[in-house]
Amino acid sequence: MTEKPDVPEQDEAAAAPSDDDSGAAVAETGARRGVSRRALIGWTGGALAVGAGAAGGVAAAVGGGTETVANSTVTSVPFEGPHQAGIVTPVQDRLHFVTFDVLTDDRAKLVRLLQQWTAAARAMTQGQPVGKGAVDGIPEAPPDDTGEALGLPPANLTLTIGFGPTLFVKDNKDRFGIAAKRPVALADLPPFPADNLDPNRSGGDICVQACADDPQVAVHAIRNLARIGFGTVAVRWSQLGFGKTSSTTPDAQTPRNLFGFKDGTRNIASDETSRQDEFVWADGSDWMAGGSYLVARRIRMHIETWDRTGLGEQETVIGRTKGEGAPMGAVKEHDPVPLKVLDERSHVRLSHPDSNDGITILRRGYSFVDGSDGLGRLDAGLFFLAYQRDPRRGFIPLQQKLASQDRLNEYIQHVGSAIFACPPGVRGADDYWGKGLFA
Ligand code: HEM
Repeated sequence: MTEKPDVPEQDEAAAAPSDDDSGAAVAETGARRGVSRRALIGWTGGALAVGAGAAGGVAAAVGGGTETVANSTVTSVPFEGPHQAGIVTPVQDRLHFVTFDVLTDDRAKLVRLLQQWTAAARAMTQGQPVGKGAVDGIPEAPPDDTGEALGLPPANLTLTIGFGPTLFVKDNKDRFGIAAKRPVALADLPPFPADNLDPNRSGGDICVQACADDPQVAVHAIRNLARIGFGTVAVRWSQLGFGKTSSTTPDAQTPRNLFGFKDGTRNIASDETSRQDEFVWADGSDWMAGGSYLVARRIRMHIETWDRTGLGEQETVIGRTKGEGAPMGAVKEHDPVPLKVLDERSHVRLSHPDSNDGITILRRGYSFVDGSDGLGRLDAGLFFLAYQRDPRRGFIPLQQKLASQDRLNEYIQHVGSAIFACPPGVRGADDYWGKGLFA
């Protein structure tokens, strides 16, 4: 039997669909009301059969806890904090990444959308529906929430926003009066050798990265943000990802990428706060303090060519063994990398911090397979996501070197590219995504 949620009397004005400001009020209402998606379908009607332990986890999830229970998808990641979630947060299994173009020149309208999005993100990451939900609005209006996450737990959903260079200046125009606030670290990425970038999969005024342990939860989140933004923003491109290719929890088994190699062995871990301060978080006193810079690259992997390459050659190209993931010349995965033993143009030798004056980035990428390309080849690869304190001392010099020397280039090609300034986390009920930028 379905449990009746605790929903206050319908406010028709708030529920009425509008292209403009209804979403914020509606989303706020949903967040305050504290109705979880689970509550909407009841304890017995959900997709998950949960026991007493898991029920404890759900209670923690609604309150924003991260208590670990048998089924990790019932936990939630706190939305507020000094940094946005989704950067050093333990990497979830699935990704839906989207970039938007802002359609309006009206600063107030953009700010209103950011407020609406913040309220919706706050609700969805805690397992609550947007606004009045999917089934409790007035019959005459489209529901506030699209509904496909009804009954699904929070699944550790994180939503991370970033602002691209074109938000600050586009076609020589300072649309929102923020050009002077563009951080110098938000550098335009230079062209790299062998880039083959598709403009339809590159750039964007705003990005949102949704990561969750359930693909439907991630897709639901992006879909609802796009819906709230209708008329103010338009989706420019988006990318689904699966099978995280990078770990920020070194105690867990390192995941493998589509070339079959462990990926993320040497990364910045979620508990390494001093390394995060050194390499991930922007400092200073401006609006980006506590934020980070994201570089996203869609990297096509030529799977069929790789699959016809001998095992020895594959290991030489990467610089690690395929089975254990140990550096060539070493025994265990986490053994120190004997750089001089590795092939000079191997990926690991070239990208290792000791070969790059200590340059270190936080990798958080996902595999993708977008069907095939019409020529019988998989349209597959790595959706590379890297966070850093300053791309001019992170991705840019690293990629300049890799693009010209890496043996891996025979098997990969960069086909999409974007860079974003991801502001610090939301702090308190009055705060919203990008408040410091628009203050
Ligand atoms: C499809 C493209 C790529 C593949 C298949 C790939 C694969 C790998 C693999 C298997 C490792 C070894 C495991 C590990 O330490 O995590 C690794 C390490 C690494 N990769 Fe990549 N990678 C790709 C692209 C990139 C790009 C574009 C960059 C940066 C510009 C990058 C930077 C790094 C770094 C910094 C390391 C760690 C090196 C170390 O500290 O030893 N990778 N990659």
